[in-house]
Parts: sequence; C-alpha cells; structure tokens
Amino acid sequence: MRTLSIAALCLTAALPALAQTPPAASVQPGRLGLCAGCHGVTGHASMPGVPNLAGQPLDYLRNALGQYRDGRRAVPLMRAAIGPLGDADLDALARWYSAQSPQSQLQAQP
Ligand code: HEC
Repeated sequence: MRTLSIAALCLTAALPALAQTPPAASVQPGRLGLCAGCHGVTGHASMPGVPNLAGQPLDYLRNALGQYRDGRRAVPLMRAAIGPLGDADLDALARWYSAQSPQSQLQAQP
C-alpha cells in the first residue's frame, strides 16, 4: 500500500514536467535563463541587434561562444553573459539552441 501511494506521488509529480517538454529538443539547460532574456528560450531573439540562434550549426555556436569567452570576439555584453559558465554549460546551451527550429515563431502572419 505504502509503495503504491509513493509510486502514485512520483507519477503525479512527473506528469506536469513531461507535458512541458518542448517537442523540438531535449531537456532545457539549467543556465538557459541567462541567455533567454536576449536570445529567447527557443533562440528567436526579441531585441534588435541580437542574433537568432535557433538551428545554427552546433559547431558554429560552440566556436562563437569560445570566441566571446577568450575575447577573440570582443563583445562585452556577451562576454559578461557567458563569463560565469564552464565548458559543459556552454556546450549544453549550444546544443539546445542548435536543436531549435529555425522557423521564427515571431514572424508576422501573411
Ligand atoms: C544582454 C543580452 C544578451 C545575453 C544575456 C546573451 N546574449 Fe548572446 N548575443 C547578444 C548580442 C547583442 C550578440 C551579437 C554580438 C556580436 O555582434 O557578435 C550575441 C551573440 C551571440 C552568439 C553568436 C551568434 C552568431 O550568429 O554569431 C551566440 C552563440 C550567443 N550570443 C549565445 C548566447 C548564450 C549561450 C547566452 C547565455 C549564456 C547569451 N548569448 C546571452 C546578446 C546577449
């Protein structure tokens, strides 16, 4: 009986999380919130001057992040944003954005 109710509890806790999983990619990286303010959760930027990241090749995104971090791309804004992140975080973020659909959800309807 006890085991059963624990199992039921676990299921109930897991269900909402499953329902929120976006179809396009795997699990959202923990640090996505750091980037989403400018690049959007799905890589469709909502601000002028911020590039869309959705669907960019993984290697391209990885390289770009490495270049901001070591200063080869001297953009203080991006440098500050990725400053506290390690390789594993940057890799997860590059994977996430690369896996998003490049079709803009914000595009005006015809
Ligand atoms: C304050 C706004 C802001 C935040 C926060 C931010 N970015 Fe950016 N990001 C920019 C801007 C502006 C550029 C364009 C910089 C340039 O001209 O090179 C950029 C460029 C990039 C690029 C290069 C895109 C390309 O096409 O070359 C990548 C990749 C990127 N950001 C990833 C991230 C990730 C990952 C995070 C979170 C850790 C993040 N950004 C947080 C504003 C932001």
